[in-house]
Amino acid sequence: MTPHSEVGVRVPAKVNVQLGVGGLRGDGFHDLANVFFAVALGDEVTARQGVGVSLTCEGPDADQVPLDDTNLAARAARLLAAHHGIEPNVALHITKAIPVAGGMAGGSADGAAALVACDALWGLGTPLPELLELAAELGSDVPFALLGGAALGRGRGELLEPLAVGGTFHWVFAVADGGLSTPAVFRECDRLREAAGTGSSEQDVPTPDADPALLAALAEGDPVALAAALANDLQAAALTLRPALADCLAAGLAAGALGALVSGSGPTCAFLVKDAVEAGSVAAALTASGRCRTAHATYGPVPGARVVARA
Ligand code: C5P
Repeated sequence: MTPHSEVGVRVPAKVNVQLGVGGLRGDGFHDLANVFFAVALGDEVTARQGVGVSLTCEGPDADQVPLDDTNLAARAARLLAAHHGIEPNVALHITKAIPVAGGMAGGSADGAAALVACDALWGLGTPLPELLELAAELGSDVPFALLGGAALGRGRGELLEPLAVGGTFHWVFAVADGGLSTPAVFRECDRLREAAGTGSSEQDVPTPDADPALLAALAEGDPVALAAALANDLQAAALTLRPALADCLAAGLAAGALGALVSGSGPTCAFLVKDAVEAGSVAAALTASGRCRTAHATYGPVPGARVVARA
């Protein structure tokens, strides 16, 4: 593989069309039945030759993106370099469109994009199975951002099985002011289970599984059937922490969406719509409703992190 002086990578955001959450494991994670779906709303990460790892970011919410070593893109560059026993020399730049701390795996997407960008920049040619293992070390949602499309994630979400999708689905995402912390939403889910008397441990909660009706709706490309099957076990927790999200979900449904759910751990709300025209009108209605900061029309599935420019 030839090294490059500059590599640009595009990477999608995700929505979980089903997020089944099992009990709390001994390692602090929850077993999931996580049906990931990649949408065109995405970030771009550019890698250039540099000295050490540096990181810059642009976009409407760039001020909320940490630029230190907690950023998954910087961690990805260091992890890939360490894996190959080389010095991590790269200047990374993120063009951010995915909502920050929004439940759409934007940080994970940048981590996946940085793995792909640095791999090409440094001319490493790391095989995909190895990149997927490094991605799983970075975070539960990072492997899916490499794969894209749609996939069933088991374990903590990192054990992926690609899923067949029979057509394009159209979506609107309503972005809230301020993010929600993923660990805090999982903790609230456990608290609600304890309060309901069902218990929250691995022994108390049955292992979740993918809904066959939802998988069939994806395979058939049927948005009405998919809308009926949308399910997120973290939604009640996100709504308890951010009650105003209920008004946002209701506003999108009133505007004509086929189905609505909180995206992942929230607070972004996802609306499945009939077609691209409907996506435009639901996005406009949501923005005008004042129930969200802004709304984006998009579609999927789209591929995972991929090189779009190199020099
Ligand atoms: O893997 P990641 O770093 O994205 O996870 C962030 C946090 O979300 C974890 O520390 C944990 O609190 C929670 N989490 C979980 N179960 C999962 C995935 C994440 O409890 N399957």
